[in-house]
Amino acid sequence: MAAEELLKCIAEEVEACKKCALYRGTSHGVPGEGSAQAEVMFIGEGPGYHEDRQGRPFVGPAGAFLNELLASIGLDRSTVFITNVVKHRPPDNRDPLPEEIAACSDYLARQIEAINPKVIVTLGRFSMARFFPTARIGQIHGQAKMVDGRLVVCMYHPAAALHKAELKQTVVDDFKRAIPAALAEAERLTAAGKLGTPKKQDDDDTPPPQQLSLF
Ligand code: URA
Repeated sequence: MAAEELLKCIAEEVEACKKCALYRGTSHGVPGEGSAQAEVMFIGEGPGYHEDRQGRPFVGPAGAFLNELLASIGLDRSTVFITNVVKHRPPDNRDPLPEEIAACSDYLARQIEAINPKVIVTLGRFSMARFFPTARIGQIHGQAKMVDGRLVVCMYHPAAALHKAELKQTVVDDFKRAIPAALAEAERLTAAGKLGTPKKQDDDDTPPPQQLSLF
């Protein structure tokens, strides 16, 4: 099946999803949106009020800031894919629970597989934890690391940055430096046949995720 069709199927499943209790009291599931051919995929935490009303990710104040950050590196939202770790809004925007993240995990795994992005950018600690369960965002933000044949860059969440001036500048700087550098590195690795063919964990003899020395 083509990536567009796979994403459409996943979106339909998300709309009807009752795998955990999060769907109760929400207006919409928020599967994610963007290009099925995206080279860069952004993964946030979960929908907030505006996202729940519209059924679209990052359309509130954090989304406006994300749009600005994308524009600062010459990217438009339509050319990337934007989604979240959980696809229904947690009540009162509380943190998603481990069982809610687990219930949604397969949707995200299938979205990543369908799109096969060269670079994944995690926004906030819940999406970071999917790739680096024990990492601290303060230590790894803005660094590209190889995970299962892809580059993953962890960023502070745009909403957190909106509330703290010093974090905002860090996010702006991380975006401008780390994403173009990760894309250039992805090009280089693709040309060398070292990217885009993620290996399965169990037949894998590569070392655990490591920081690239370049940036
Ligand atoms: N915050 C998120 O993590 N995701 C959204 O979609 C909106 C705000």
